[in-house]
Amino acid sequence: MRSAKDFFQPLAVGAPDPLREIPFRPSRMIHFFDPSNPKMAAKVPEIAAKVDILLGNLEDAIQADRKQAAREGLVSIGKQADLGETQLWARVNSLDSPWFLDDMLRLVGELGDRLDVIMLPKVQGPWDIYYADQLLAQLEARHGVTRPILLHAILETATGVNQVEAIAHASPRMQGLSLGPADLAASRRMKTTRVGGGHPGYVVRADPNPESPSDARPSVQQDLWHYTIARMVDACAAAGILPFYGPFGDIADLVACEDQFRNAFLLGCVGAWSLHPNQIAIARRVFSPPPEEVAWAKRVIEAMGDGTGAVMIDGKMQDDATVKQCRVMVSLAELIASRDPEMRAAYGMS
Ligand code: GLV
Ligand code: MG
Repeated sequence: MRSAKDFFQPLAVGAPDPLREIPFRPSRMIHFFDPSNPKMAAKVPEIAAKVDILLGNLEDAIQADRKQAAREGLVSIGKQADLGETQLWARVNSLDSPWFLDDMLRLVGELGDRLDVIMLPKVQGPWDIYYADQLLAQLEARHGVTRPILLHAILETATGVNQVEAIAHASPRMQGLSLGPADLAASRRMKTTRVGGGHPGYVVRADPNPESPSDARPSVQQDLWHYTIARMVDACAAAGILPFYGPFGDIADLVACEDQFRNAFLLGCVGAWSLHPNQIAIARRVFSPPPEEVAWAKRVIEAMGDGTGAVMIDGKMQDDATVKQCRVMVSLAELIASRDPEMRAAYGMS
């Protein structure tokens, strides 16, 4: 492990100083688009106005013979499009692919400061982050980049889950983690072919009725992803970085998508990927704290004064801990309100 004294030193002469804190901007959805597809590229300005983060995807879902077109498409969109306050991210190909190195050379060389975050897929351990960190520092120095380009790792290998705390702490460049349920299912040899969400076979069933053993026994689907999301959230919170739920593949099932996103939100995630425009509104709704909860949280904060002691509000006990829970809710609402006028109005904030 690098000495704490050196942790915030640039890794290359001329690279910008690493950040001491990860900037937390509204990040409710990371909207994926295929930069090799001219139709999608044409829609970028319109979509950018609706999302918190726009991500040019160079990895899976882009056919091998379109990889170069996707890379060059992203370079030209990144240079030309006016994205306003919307963050621009790129998902590069994995470190073991024939495309990773050129992805990095082209994107940093051409986009530099216009690129906020690089998403690294199939991260296995901190060693992958060390390599990308060093390479980015060299490229930043070479191209005169003035603020560090951050790294976001997808948690989608069994080894990566084993190493998640070390990955989260590997570099001051680490911005966050996303759960990648498809690759992770394959890596773990889970027997689901779905991308995220539940599975009708993963249930807990009620005991038989002893009086009438032939009665139907109700069962309830359980969440296949609970353990991994919870573990990822803890790793991120401990490292001061941001956790995200990843893709929900059944684009037509808006209800189950909303459930999956909400489970992730309640467990501590700040956002999720949107793979289709109809998932944008879901992420926006789910990852903006509900106005009535925010109003309640403000009431608690006000009643708690200096934040110590205990009070009863509507029959519910409040104390030093609950006021902290309420501050999480209100500070997130304030952040969202700073970007989203509709939510600002819903929260009654000016
Ligand atoms: C995302 O990349 C996934 O594999 O689920
Ligand atoms: Mg994947």
